[in-house]
Amino acid sequence: MTTKYRVEYALKSHRRDGFIEWIKGLLAVPFVLHSEPAAFINGVGTGEDVTQATRHQYAAILSDVEALIKDQLNHEKNGTPELAKIKHLVPTVGSFFTELPLEQAFYVQDSKRAISSRRLVSPSFNDVRLILNSAQILSLANGDLPLKLVTLDGDVTLYDDGKSLTRDSNVIPVLLELLKRDIAIGIVTAAGYSDTSGTRYTERLEGLIHAITISTDLTDQQKQNLLVMGGESNFMFRYSVTSERLVWVEPEEWGLPVMNTWQEDDIQNLLDLAEEVLASCKQAMNLSGLLVRKSRAVGIVPMPGKKMIRENLEEVVLGAQRRLEFSELGKQIHFCAFNGGSDVWVDVGDKRLGVIALQRYLGQISGRQTLHVGDQFASIGANDFKARLAACTVWVADPSETVDALTELCGYIDKRTASVEKEQQHKSFLHH
Ligand code: IMP
Ligand code: MG
Repeated sequence: MTTKYRVEYALKSHRRDGFIEWIKGLLAVPFVLHSEPAAFINGVGTGEDVTQATRHQYAAILSDVEALIKDQLNHEKNGTPELAKIKHLVPTVGSFFTELPLEQAFYVQDSKRAISSRRLVSPSFNDVRLILNSAQILSLANGDLPLKLVTLDGDVTLYDDGKSLTRDSNVIPVLLELLKRDIAIGIVTAAGYSDTSGTRYTERLEGLIHAITISTDLTDQQKQNLLVMGGESNFMFRYSVTSERLVWVEPEEWGLPVMNTWQEDDIQNLLDLAEEVLASCKQAMNLSGLLVRKSRAVGIVPMPGKKMIRENLEEVVLGAQRRLEFSELGKQIHFCAFNGGSDVWVDVGDKRLGVIALQRYLGQISGRQTLHVGDQFASIGANDFKARLAACTVWVADPSETVDALTELCGYIDKRTASVEKEQQHKSFLHH
């Protein structure tokens, strides 16, 4: 069993998040020391004192991790990133745009999830993921620069896989709350529809577009702060107050210089290579899939009424990734191969470019002032992962977590605004 586990681990390491696993490992120590394997045999639960002691130790660990992130930020500022301690401890860790108040975030999540009250189940991947999310949200709401842009993935983040943002969606009210606070919204989705009328995006986002159109408390400027970036980084649309719908934005207005270096022939040749891999996987594994070719993407989608199993989708995605990353064209042109849950796509471009294009188009917004919310953050075969290079991120598991995270964000922003106002009132009172 051990051997099989190890082999699987080696092949699936791309699906693990090194930083989250490492924090989980640190929290496992106090958990084990305070665990009570015999709890519940002689009665129910354990005393508050054990919970308190465990909480204290979890908080102390997270405070230490918080300091390690601060250390990395300092080293990056001083041009010595190689000396950052955390890089040595967790080699796969990325860069951070902001400090992360992990201790405070732990208390927030502990009060919701009762992490330190558990004696038999250790702090989990999801516990740690949600602590990191809260820390990022706290930090963005309280930063020295205001949050300007929230980008959101579509499938699984805003609506269930393959579904649409309908008028009854719980996500809509909180998106309007962001707009009301002068925060722009960019929906950065892999779904690629090149039709410049924006009909397909309008259909899928109808509930939100309708809510914005009829809103009486958003200004025109706030309404125009809804943008869509489709096909990862290929097609941009913006809400227009005059036409009350999404309108196409010409690539000349937002395209990044690197995109202009890609020749159309090369793009199509890259997609041909990807298509070859998808076709050969389809044949070799006898997949019930159909190949779909678009102007900026190629995919394999399930035949009507059929399903492709997860393992085979992963095989296709890893195969395509390898074929392209070792090709000459794949070194020049940015691409993104990912497993969409029931299909596999290779897109030209990626969400890093999509987010950067929005930041530039809206006026040089920095990564520290941008939050990307998505569900796909594994290092290979997932398409939100690249957005980490351009923005702070929150990793959600479904649309209800998106609602929770954005509600938490608005709450902290309001608290901060109220305390700043109070301070100003106090100052002007002292002046008089
Ligand atoms: P996202 O989660 O919003 O990034 O959307 C991902 C899903 O969009 C994929 O799983 C596909 O089912 C769907 N999709 C539709 N068209 C495309 C395309 O051109 N490229 C990639 N995904 C697409
Ligand atoms: Mg998604």
